[in-house]
Amino acid sequence: MWPIDCIAHKRDGLVLTDEEIARFIRDYTAGRIADYQAAAWCMAVYLKGMDATETTALTKAMAESGDPVDLSSIPGIKVDKHSTGGIADTTTLIVAPLVAAAGVPVAKMSGRGLGFTGGTIDKLQSIPGFQTELSEDAFLRQMQDMGMAVISQSGEIAPADKLLYALRDATATVESIPLIASSIMSKKIASGADAIVLDVKYGDGAFMKTKERARQLARTMVDIGRLAGRPTRAVLTSMEAPLGTAIGNSLEVDEAVEALSGKGGRRLMEVVEAIGSQMLILGGKVPDEAQGRACIRRLVENGEGLKKFRQFVRAQHGSASWIGKQPLTRAPQMYTAVSAETGYITAVHGRALGELAMRMGAGRARKEDAIDPMVGIRLFKELYDPVRAGEPLFTLYGNSQAPMEELARQAAEQITISDGPAPVQEPVVSEI
Ligand code: URA
Ligand code: CA
Repeated sequence: MWPIDCIAHKRDGLVLTDEEIARFIRDYTAGRIADYQAAAWCMAVYLKGMDATETTALTKAMAESGDPVDLSSIPGIKVDKHSTGGIADTTTLIVAPLVAAAGVPVAKMSGRGLGFTGGTIDKLQSIPGFQTELSEDAFLRQMQDMGMAVISQSGEIAPADKLLYALRDATATVESIPLIASSIMSKKIASGADAIVLDVKYGDGAFMKTKERARQLARTMVDIGRLAGRPTRAVLTSMEAPLGTAIGNSLEVDEAVEALSGKGGRRLMEVVEAIGSQMLILGGKVPDEAQGRACIRRLVENGEGLKKFRQFVRAQHGSASWIGKQPLTRAPQMYTAVSAETGYITAVHGRALGELAMRMGAGRARKEDAIDPMVGIRLFKELYDPVRAGEPLFTLYGNSQAPMEELARQAAEQITISDGPAPVQEPVVSEI
């Protein structure tokens, strides 16, 4: 089938075969199909959708477009974890060492962040000396030695997705569930995972604004995983408020270390347990969620998760002497704001706080932007907490030029304090 027929078929709402989709992606990646044709095809998919078989074929074609990672030399079921991105979400840095400490190998390839705060790679780069680029040999050796590695994604992971994503970004075709689902899953499959746990977020601070859309995205990705032979589970989580209490790269590493030391916040640890337990189930270590959660809690309490984190940082050439002793964050300016009122925290606007942290230098507005690893916001209160007038609400960590008082005024506006408590909504909504 010629590219123009592929576009016409989709335009008319017909179903494409696996081979038609595979050829379209192969030819596009090789430069034999023009950008305007691929863009027209994306728009046809956006408008007409794709069924589960087509979405899986697209995922596999994109996964195979580069040089997929082969993790078969590492014993055990390799389980990966992916989050669709949230505010104050340092879950990966907590859950990966815990799951690895339980004996499930975690080989993670992460991207850099765009927007509010950095991605996992940016966070790790706030640790002095930490290397996120390892040779394939070094990566595999580290996996054999300690069962955990986190490295930055190379250009060869699903290049077709990279090309298509750039087109979608410029043609208003990003928000299509089959296109998002295949984009995410192609990268996970190309990274070599045997099984995948997805944290699909919805709400103010998330990519999917409604629970229904997030559920639909999660179901689509779980279906792709099943059809592609990579068992996948998803946890649906609310991003109505920041998940943890740290927004900013070194601050989030500090929060991960605290969480691994048993001092994690309620909302953050709920998501850590939910995702960690699903990873342990898929990794074959526990039969059900209750035992998975108990295992995660035990590995926090006995310090095995923190020990694994320290081992991992050292293996990737990072300084580890500070871990468990002092915070990593050392910004030139600090400013602590106190509450003017007594009451309850009834809203924390994560998106606005994320944008504020980004303007302070914690995230990127454009992909060329540099990140300042030390800046950001540390909250002392979580959603639903009681607060008294005069109690600290947050500390801002700024660079030497930051107008701290003005920034603090803007941050304080994003936290609502009311006389009475708000009804509690747990961050984990359901598992799929
Ligand atoms: N993240 C991705 O990796 N791909 C999308 O299409 C959307 C979000
Ligand atoms: Ca549950």
